[in-house]
Amino acid sequence: MIYKQNVAEVIGHTDLLRIPSLSQLTDCEILVKCEFQNPGGSIKDRAALQMVQDAIARGELKPGMTIVEGTAGNTGIGLAVVAKALGFKMLTVMPKGQTPEKEKMIALHGSELMLVDPCPFANPNHFYHTAKRLGEENDSYWWANQFENISNAKAHYEHTGPEIWQQTDGNVDALVSVSGTGGTIGGCSRFLKEQNEDVQVWSIDPDGSGIYHYLKTGEYKAQGSSFTEGIGIMRTVANFAQARIDKGITLPDDDLVTVSRAVRNADGLVLGSSTALNIAGALFAAAKSGPGKTIVTFACDAGERSYSKLWNPEFLAEKGIQEDRETIEQMFNRYKTMDDSVIVNVTGKD
Ligand SMILES: Cc1ncc(COP(=O)(O)O)c(C=O)c1O
Repeated sequence: MIYKQNVAEVIGHTDLLRIPSLSQLTDCEILVKCEFQNPGGSIKDRAALQMVQDAIARGELKPGMTIVEGTAGNTGIGLAVVAKALGFKMLTVMPKGQTPEKEKMIALHGSELMLVDPCPFANPNHFYHTAKRLGEENDSYWWANQFENISNAKAHYEHTGPEIWQQTDGNVDALVSVSGTGGTIGGCSRFLKEQNEDVQVWSIDPDGSGIYHYLKTGEYKAQGSSFTEGIGIMRTVANFAQARIDKGITLPDDDLVTVSRAVRNADGLVLGSSTALNIAGALFAAAKSGPGKTIVTFACDAGERSYSKLWNPEFLAEKGIQEDRETIEQMFNRYKTMDDSVIVNVTGKD
């Protein structure tokens, strides 16, 4: 018999899925890594497992201790899965205002949940500083620190990137990714560029995230705000610092709504909001690089976790977003005709 020893061993080795409708529309292969297949339902399970394994190996995390982490949700769920599987307790510190789906999932996975008021990073009560403080003040707590702990990007350098390389037989022209901590884009871009320097790496930002501006000017500045969760960066963190990015763009929430409806209706895949942004980014990359390319991106989690925002007509109406504003064909044509000056060309390569 072949079986896994515990649920942590189920993490990773996700499928790479072709999106038929968008591949046909673009004349490219639009491929998504199905990270919702992880036991905690998101790409963050990979980072959670690697951070915990490395902390155990360093002797920092010992049996019976509590893992503490500040997170918009998915890392808390991933760490809770790993904590239970490997014999630890879990305390998640989360800002209020994330989707209730994620709060429920954290409790469901057996993590204690501490909700803090959302505030700017400079405020000592920010969820990041709260988790750090709890870790420092309590000997039986271990703070995972997903932003600066480079075991996060290592998970993607050692596993996700190699899986993509193997699943495409080394035929990958572009990698498209959003960033929350930059673990995914950091580890995958580094690995793929080591295999083939010509793989084009695209960074996709929602409104309210500072990466696009950072790539352009070296300064973090953002405009507007997005309803996406778990993504967007406003400071240089160690995992994102590893990323080897060629191009950066920023896309509005309207485009995620268009993509998510099109893919649900034509392909049967219900996307979470960061995934919808990734796939919009993949369409943009296809529009700009022309036909015949293989473009890989990530389904970071599944649509259930975005039920009360991306998939909630009342919420969208409050935000002034029209669900049928544009068809996917119109959106793709708009991308094709958009001036190249909207792209930050970091490496100058085409
Ligand atoms: C839903 C979702 N998508 C994408 C990401 C980004 O992943 P990374 O932290 O590897 O940049 C995160 C978390 O950070 C997330 O929760």
